[in-house]
Amino acid sequence: MSHRGDSRGADNLPARPAGPPKSRILGTGSFLPPLTRTNADLEAMVETSDSWIRERTGIRERRVAPPGMLTSDMAAEAAKAALLSADLPPHKLDLIVVATITPDVPMPATAVFVQQKIGAAPTCPAFDLSAACAGFIYGITVADKFLASGAAEHVLVIGVEMLSRVVNWTDRSTCVLFGDGAGAVVMGRATGDDRGLLGSSIYSDGSLANSLIIPGGGTAAPLSTETIAQRRNTIHMKGQDIFKAAVKNLYSSSQHLVDSMGLHNDDVDWVVPHQANMRIIDQVTMRANYPKGKVLSNIERVGNTSSASIPILLDERVKDGTIKPSDLVLMCALGAGLSWGAALVRM
Ligand SMILES: CC(C)(COP(=O)(O)OP(=O)(O)OC[C@H]1O[C@@H](n2cnc3c(N)ncnc32)[C@H](O)[C@@H]1OP(=O)(O)O)[C@@H](O)C(=O)NCCC(=O)NCCS
Repeated sequence: MSHRGDSRGADNLPARPAGPPKSRILGTGSFLPPLTRTNADLEAMVETSDSWIRERTGIRERRVAPPGMLTSDMAAEAAKAALLSADLPPHKLDLIVVATITPDVPMPATAVFVQQKIGAAPTCPAFDLSAACAGFIYGITVADKFLASGAAEHVLVIGVEMLSRVVNWTDRSTCVLFGDGAGAVVMGRATGDDRGLLGSSIYSDGSLANSLIIPGGGTAAPLSTETIAQRRNTIHMKGQDIFKAAVKNLYSSSQHLVDSMGLHNDDVDWVVPHQANMRIIDQVTMRANYPKGKVLSNIERVGNTSSASIPILLDERVKDGTIKPSDLVLMCALGAGLSWGAALVRM
């Protein structure tokens, strides 16, 4: 797997380990909180319109967690559903990885609360991973390494975000985009056939860190009345910079991965892209020449749920029978960091 280099061209193709996959997805699950916030609701909050939001982003509505619900609550619901579909009791988990940028608390990890809520063994290692919208791709890449090395037999990977609590609800350029939710997969060792994680590539470029950032609330600007008054504890984004970087890097990292596996885009049955903006998805689809029907989406209903985006969509399409066993699925995501990546999974 590639964890370094860039995605610019064939000269940088990562070396691929030969042989069958080492890990596979045993089950999927997801959870969406019950409250829906529509574009009409947002029209009453900021100067925007349903038509602007739909035309520029493809979003009609998003889910918002009710007061009292925690990130770990949503994560635990998605995890329980994934364990059920994998037919695995929670005490058989060897590792819990929670990809999130909206943890319950700064310390300890949200993953330890999830461990308790799902009834995993009290010694099961559990940690959070911060790669924003690329968190799920990072998470399954980490899980694959644990499974391939023999360090774990069953790994729970969760992407979960409660972005409604870190969005500035007076900033129309960001508050219309994001939603809350959780998605999870249980991964286990591959069984020697061609089903499993065929490959993944992850990348980061810290030179663009300020393009999408929550500038306050960490050690750089600890929480204070001033930080909060300036809303530095909320998402700040240079939308057009992110848009351009997303189209370029989602396309190049996906293409790079497919090429480096000796496959063609035609071999891919389904593309499950991060749901950031329908126009980003359409431009990547056009560049890669994927038939539109192969590129899955639920952004209209859920908005951008960051690290939860791919596992929610994956679970929905597995459960409704669209994605079938042995289908080849390409996933790709980009977000704050910038961090991005792609993964190819034979389900
Ligand atoms: C945010 C985004 C939808 C804005 O769309 P855009 O076409 O780039 O729009 P611009 O930023 O150029 O703004 C165009 C105009 O719309 C206005 N506008 C911004 N948000 C608006 C909203 N919700 N409603 C109405 N008008 C809005 C801007 O103020 C601007 O007005 P002006 O021309 O008078 O200055 C788009 O840039 C985007 O999706 N970027 C990627 C964001 C992303 O994916 N982030 C997460 C990464 S995981």
